[in-house]
Amino acid sequence: MPAHFTHASLRRPDRLRLLALVTLLTTAGGCQNSQEPTTENRPFDVDATVASMTLEEKVGMTHANSAFTSGGVERLGIPELVMSDGPHGVRHEHTRYYDKATDAEDAGTYLPVGTALAATWNEELGYAFGEVLGRETAYRGKDVILGPGINIIRDPLNGRNFEYMTEDPFLNGRMAVGYIKGVQDQGVATSVKHFIANSLEYERRFVNVEMDERTFREIYLPGFKTAVQEGGALTVMAAYNKFRGDWSAESAFLLDDVLRGEFGYEGIVMSDWNAVHRTLPAARVSLDIEMGTDLSQEWNEPDYDAYFLADPVIAMVRDGALDESIIDAKVRRILTVMKRIHMFSGDRPAGAYNTPEHQAVARRIADESLVLLKNDGLLPLARDAVKRLAVIGANANRKHAGGGGSSQVKALYEVTALEGLRRLLGDGVEITFAPGYDIAPDATANEDLIASAVEAAGAADAVIYVGGLIHGYTDAWDDNAYDAEVLDKPDMMLPFGQDALIKAVLAANANTVIALQSGGPVDMRAWVSDTRAIVQAWYGGMEGGNALAAMLFGEVNPSGKLPMTFPARLADSPAHALASYPDEQLLIEHTEGLFVGYRYFDSYDVEPAFAFGHGLSYTQFAYADLSVESVDEGVEVRLTVTNTGDRAGAEVVQVYVHDNESSLKRPVQELKGFDKVELEPGASAELVIPLDKTAFEYYRPAKGPDEGGWLLEPGLFSVLVGSSSRDIRLRGEVEL
Ligand code: GLC
Repeated sequence: MPAHFTHASLRRPDRLRLLALVTLLTTAGGCQNSQEPTTENRPFDVDATVASMTLEEKVGMTHANSAFTSGGVERLGIPELVMSDGPHGVRHEHTRYYDKATDAEDAGTYLPVGTALAATWNEELGYAFGEVLGRETAYRGKDVILGPGINIIRDPLNGRNFEYMTEDPFLNGRMAVGYIKGVQDQGVATSVKHFIANSLEYERRFVNVEMDERTFREIYLPGFKTAVQEGGALTVMAAYNKFRGDWSAESAFLLDDVLRGEFGYEGIVMSDWNAVHRTLPAARVSLDIEMGTDLSQEWNEPDYDAYFLADPVIAMVRDGALDESIIDAKVRRILTVMKRIHMFSGDRPAGAYNTPEHQAVARRIADESLVLLKNDGLLPLARDAVKRLAVIGANANRKHAGGGGSSQVKALYEVTALEGLRRLLGDGVEITFAPGYDIAPDATANEDLIASAVEAAGAADAVIYVGGLIHGYTDAWDDNAYDAEVLDKPDMMLPFGQDALIKAVLAANANTVIALQSGGPVDMRAWVSDTRAIVQAWYGGMEGGNALAAMLFGEVNPSGKLPMTFPARLADSPAHALASYPDEQLLIEHTEGLFVGYRYFDSYDVEPAFAFGHGLSYTQFAYADLSVESVDEGVEVRLTVTNTGDRAGAEVVQVYVHDNESSLKRPVQELKGFDKVELEPGASAELVIPLDKTAFEYYRPAKGPDEGGWLLEPGLFSVLVGSSSRDIRLRGEVEL
C-alpha cells in the first residue's frame, strides 16, 4: 500500500480490486466464508460506514488534503476524491501541491469553450461534449470534473464569460443538462459552478453581490435549478463572492434553504478554492468539502489540517460547540456521490483519451458554434475564384488552449485558423500570412506590420482577417489578459491597434472577411459598416482552425446563433447603462434587475450590434402555419419550416413569450423554447415545441402576509417565433 493512498497513484482497476479487498475485510468484520457475497456484489453501506468512522476520519473527508483531492479513509478502503479542472478539457496533471507535473502523459482533447458550445443551441451536442469530457476525465483517473461553468453572462467585461454559456436562463439550463448527463454517464461527477452570481472577476473573493428576489429567481437561479433537478449534477461549487452579505460557501439561504430545501439537492457542495473564511458558519451550513490550495501562492505544501473545516472542527465537536451529526451528514453526502460514480463497486467505465471520435466531436461542436454575423454574399468564398489568399491577424497563427486560467487545457494539438486554411486549400491557393499586429502588453498599432498587411491584402483575391482577444500572453496566470480568470477586460475595444489595421486592410481589399476569436462581444463600430462579412469564431478548441476554414469556403454551412447580445458599445450594456462596474468598492449591485441581455435591449428599445439568437446561414428558411394551442401541460407551438435556398442547412427556431398584460413589469419577451432542425434544399419540417405552464409564469416576491412565489397570471400571451430575438417571423396569441 503506497505511503498515502491516493487515487492517482494506482491504476483504476488495481485500485478497485484493492478497495474491494480492504472493504470486504473491514466492513464485513474480517474474513468471509465462500457462501457470503463479496463486496463487489454487496452495495456499499453508507450509513454503516459513517457509523464505523472516527471523528478524525470523517472530518478528513470534508476538506482538501492536496490541491485537487479531498481526504479518503485508507482503513476503510475509501479513496480520496480526485478532482480536475476544467469546463472544456481535462487540465494538465498537477503535483499534490499545484505545481505542474512534468512527467505526465496529460495532453488531451481541447473542446470549444462554453460560449461556443452554447452558440450551437444543440442539446445533443451538449451531451456529446459531456461524454467526451467525462471519458477523458475517467481515463485520467479523476472522479470529478470542475465544470460546467454556468454563471449568467451579464457584463461583457467579465474575464470568464468565455467559460460560461449565455445571458439567458432557459438556454443556460438546456445546454447544461446534456453536458452534465454526458459527463456523469461516464462514472464521473460534474461540479456546476459558481453558485451563485460570480458574474465578474473583480475582487471575486471579497465582493458582495446584491440583487432583488425576482432577478435572483428568474435570471440567476434557473440554470442551477435545471442543472441539479434535471441534469442530476452530483456536485455544486459554491462561489467566491458574497451573496446578500453572506459568503456563498457559508450561506444558509443559498445552500440550505434554496439548494437543499427548495431544489431537494442531495449531492456534494464544495467550496471554490479558498472560498471558505470561517469555521463555524461554514460547518453549520450544508457545505460538504472545503477545497483550496496554499493561499500564500508559494505552491508549497500547505497545512491542510489547519483548514477551517479541518482540526478546528474536530476541536469544536470535542468541545460540544458543534454537533457531530452535522459532520456525519456531510460525509454521508460525499460517500453517496462516491457510490453513485461506482467508486466502490468496481464497475467504473475506464474512459478513453485522445480518440478520433473525441476529436470528431470537438470538430462538430466547433462547426456548429460559428456564428455568421454579417454576409453580403462574399461568403462562402469560391475556391476557384481565390488563387491568392491573404490571411491577416496574429490570432490566425495563435494557439489559445493553455491560457485563461484554471480552464486551461494542455491540448494534444490545436489547429490554428492559418493551419486550417492551409490544410483545406493545399497547394492550389497561394496563401500569404501577415500578423498585422503585435500581441504584447500595451501594444498599439504597428505601422510596419500594418504596411505589410496592407501590401498582402492589396495583392490578394480575398482576405481573411483573424483577430479578436486572447486569454493571456503566456499560459502563466500572472500573464492573463482579456478573456481570462482573475481579471476583467478594461473595455470592449479590440486591443493591439486592431481597429486601425482592419480599416487599412478593408481599404486595401473590400473582399475581406473578419473572423473574431473571443469569449464575447467587442466594439466593432470603427469598421462594421465597411465590412462585407463578419464571423464570431469564439475559442473553437483543437479543431477550431479546420472548422473556420471549412465554413469560410462553404464546406460547412454555418448554423450558430449568439447566446448573448453583442452591444454596439459598452455603454449600451445594461450592466453599464442601468448599473455600474464596481470601481473601488466591494459591492456589485444588479440594479438592472431582470433586464439582462436582450431583456434590456428589447424592453428599452436599444439597438444592439447583433441580437441574442442572431446567426446567418448560406441558405434561407421560411416559417409558416403557426398554431399556438393551450393544452393540459401548457401550450403547444406548431409551425412549418422550409429550406428555401439551394443548399442544406440547419436552423435554430426560437420561441419567445410576451405577457400582454401583467401586474408587474416584465421583459417584453423571454426565450422559452427552441428547436434546431437540419433541412435539405426545398425540404420542410413541422416542428412541435411544447411550452409548459412555467414558461408563462413570473416570480412575485413575498409581500406582508403574501409569501409570494411563481405566478401564472391569467390573461392573453403572445408567442413569438423567429430566427433570432430581433427576427420574429410568426406571431400567435393564447389565452391562459
Ligand atoms: C479556481 C476557479 C474554479 C476552479 C478552481 C480549481 O479559482 O474559480 O472555477 O475550478 O479554482 O482550480
